[in-house]
Amino acid sequence: MEFTAIILAAGKGTRMKSSLPKPLHRVGGHPMLGWSIDAASAAGATHIVAVLAPDSTEIQQWLQDTDTDIAIQESQLGTGSAVAAAYELLKRKNGIAVVMFADTPLVRADSIAALVRKVAGGAAIAVAAFEPADPTGYGRLVKSKTGSIDSIVEHRDATDAQQRIGLCNGGIMAIRMPLLFELLDQVTNDNAKGEYYLTDIVALASTTGHQVGHLVIDELEILGVNDRVDLAAAEAALQSRLRVAAMQAGVTMTAPDTVFLSADAIIEQDVIIEPHVVIGSNCHIGEGSIIHAFSHLEGTRLGACCIIGPYARLRPGTEADEGVKVGNFVETKNSRLGAGAKANHLTYLGDATIGAGANIGAGTITCNYDGFGKHETLIGDGAFIGSNTALVAPVTIGARAIIGAGSTITRDVGVDSIAVERAHTSEREGAAAKFRQTRQSKDKKTKTKPRS
Ligand code: UD1
Ligand code: CA
Repeated sequence: MEFTAIILAAGKGTRMKSSLPKPLHRVGGHPMLGWSIDAASAAGATHIVAVLAPDSTEIQQWLQDTDTDIAIQESQLGTGSAVAAAYELLKRKNGIAVVMFADTPLVRADSIAALVRKVAGGAAIAVAAFEPADPTGYGRLVKSKTGSIDSIVEHRDATDAQQRIGLCNGGIMAIRMPLLFELLDQVTNDNAKGEYYLTDIVALASTTGHQVGHLVIDELEILGVNDRVDLAAAEAALQSRLRVAAMQAGVTMTAPDTVFLSADAIIEQDVIIEPHVVIGSNCHIGEGSIIHAFSHLEGTRLGACCIIGPYARLRPGTEADEGVKVGNFVETKNSRLGAGAKANHLTYLGDATIGAGANIGAGTITCNYDGFGKHETLIGDGAFIGSNTALVAPVTIGARAIIGAGSTITRDVGVDSIAVERAHTSEREGAAAKFRQTRQSKDKKTKTKPRS
């Protein structure tokens, strides 16, 4: 159902103690403001307005990539004044508005849609409510004898009896327009905080005969982030959601609590993720792949049945086709590995293209950086790179070529060639035994020497 979302993000966020504006702090790798925008869109919002403070260039920059209008709240006089800041953009609109906050990243689209349906069904206002274990600090929903909502009283303004009410305002509210702005016009700042409370529109609506409904939603969805402790709690809750979703979609996790997933991760069926794995932003993991313990992936696309780690680090631009193996202490960056290619141990592959079935020996390094620019390494299908090889880019190794262990390759190697760059071994027979003898007799002499 169509509606307009008004997302309040003009608060000072002082308790974050941060140079980064609160709405841009990330949960699951995605800014909190982004979560609110996504939830609104998923619920059917056709127009989204973010209410920002005047000094909000960083947030405005971030919003450039989204389809969001911006309203500026000149001074932070409360949630009512924040919504009123959207008036100029919305004054000619009918339909339903949903007010949301930019610091409640866990709200679900379903809950927003349910509030919108309540208003479409006849209520003037629908409030998202919850019953926290400790209601201190929240606005309380005061009910009439018939069970409809008479008013919302902020904690600081509540009487003792009202403070005993367990049903609290979650902050998200659906309201008919233009009624929203008509009611806001009547709101005063005659309260404990001297602010213009959005919540006051509820009493104004009910005394003029409008129906105010409410919908109890999960406390987790309302979890407001005010400081870094709340931010960590939101992250933990989101991670748990993401892991459950992945497992329900057919991913095995042996110790889910230790796995970190970016919200945009695409993980196909029958992937196995071992303990202590981090899947950062922009990853796609193909069906049946195994990510062994302590691996860290970002910006990586894996085909089906790849085997990664333990202790692998796949950095942005890593693309692996089916059946690739990347083992312990291997780092890849901006590199493509063809089907069945293997780099099993202690290797750095940067700006490299590795052919299907190539074998990259332990300790191979692509020397891609000369202190000024990055250079490419091309390794053909089926090539065999011996252990401890340095490939000085730009360099091309032909298909099925063999590079002898310990080589430093500074020029191209042809298809089917063997290249070795290594000094000849000099061997002196019996020299080790002789060396040991002389050392031992010297040692004896120093030990028996009398003290002077
Ligand atoms: C608000 C509700 C309270 C509810 C609680 C739920 C009001 C008056 N109170 O209280 O009933 O239980 O949320 O968490 O609405 N903001 C602005 N401009 C302002 C002030 C705030 O944009 O001038 C934004 C903030 O950035 C934030 C949101 O509005 O995203 C909520 O403001 P906040 O001050 O945290 O409200 P609470 O006191 O928590
Ligand atoms: Ca708050």
